[in-house]
Amino acid sequence: MKTVFSGVRPSGAIHLGNYLGAIKNWVELQKNYQCVFCVVDYHAITTPFSPKELSQNALETAATYLAAGIDPKQSLIFVQSHNPDHTEMAWILNTIARIPELERMTQFKEKSEEHKSAINMGLFDYPVLMAADILLYGTDIVPVGEDQEQHVELARTLARRFNQTFGETFKIPESMVRKEGARIMGLDDPNKKMSKSAESSLNYIVLTDTPEVIKGKIKKAVTDSGSEIKYNPENKPAISNLLTIYSLVTDKPIEQLEKDYKDHTSYADFKKDVADAVVEFLTPFQKKFNDLLEKPKEIKKILEDGAKEAREISEKTLREAKKKMGLI
Ligand code: TYM
Repeated sequence: MKTVFSGVRPSGAIHLGNYLGAIKNWVELQKNYQCVFCVVDYHAITTPFSPKELSQNALETAATYLAAGIDPKQSLIFVQSHNPDHTEMAWILNTIARIPELERMTQFKEKSEEHKSAINMGLFDYPVLMAADILLYGTDIVPVGEDQEQHVELARTLARRFNQTFGETFKIPESMVRKEGARIMGLDDPNKKMSKSAESSLNYIVLTDTPEVIKGKIKKAVTDSGSEIKYNPENKPAISNLLTIYSLVTDKPIEQLEKDYKDHTSYADFKKDVADAVVEFLTPFQKKFNDLLEKPKEIKKILEDGAKEAREISEKTLREAKKKMGLI
């Protein structure tokens, strides 16, 4: 069985882009793959954070995985900092990663711009830790949104370089980026991706937003000129984004939705329907999420068991890498 690895940073609210771009695909993949889903808290501390919020966010990220349909009997769920193999492997990979290739990382450039007074080594090294996450589990497939593709590419480069230098050790992973939903755009600015670090909360839908808030945000979402409901990301980025969201939450193809709205002459009706569909999609998720959070001990137990099992896999890869390098 092939292995899938992915993760979400517990840095504040998880938004619809994370869900539709990544987590939704995980749920489908777990039927046919050995899946490992990590709450990547060491990645979350590379930008300013509050310790109290971090622990709650980590728990909520795990609850999100579970409420979305990740089944701990089928898939491994654990917290990155519970398995020290990740940081140890990151150190090893640091010695083969090259500074110029890390300087080229788009996310590093963006985050450095965002947090000018807090550009730390961890932020620079972020993609190497991500490579360690992936390579430790002999991962075949990494389902991510478009913004993480460059990091998966780096993981491939590092794996190949290590194998060439020290002998065959790592499997070369591949990213899986879905055609639809790989880049959900901001509701207030359809030219930028939906992001938890956006200035305005009108940019994103948080998975726990109430129906009123969701409806309000979609009502206020930017639209394009004209009144046609047509998918055309270049000329109609806002409507195309709403169509993508609508399609993913209802599992209806975009062409079908275009047909359904052929005779519509106003964006307002369309937006109302998108909002209703998002609410309908998120309501059962929110119920499960809230129920789970009432039992934090159960979540913690799942994470504890997950970390133990994860380590059984990762320690073999780590041992092999160290042996190949002559570390005794
Ligand atoms: P993070 O926490 O920023 O995002 C989690 C997942 O959500 C995707 N995503 C989006 N997809 C579509 N539209 C958007 N607007 C959007 N915003 C985010 C991301 O691509 C990602 O798949 N570095 C990673 C976490 C990580 C990881 C890993 C992922 C650490 N180690 C190993 C895969 C494998 C991150 O910060 O994702």
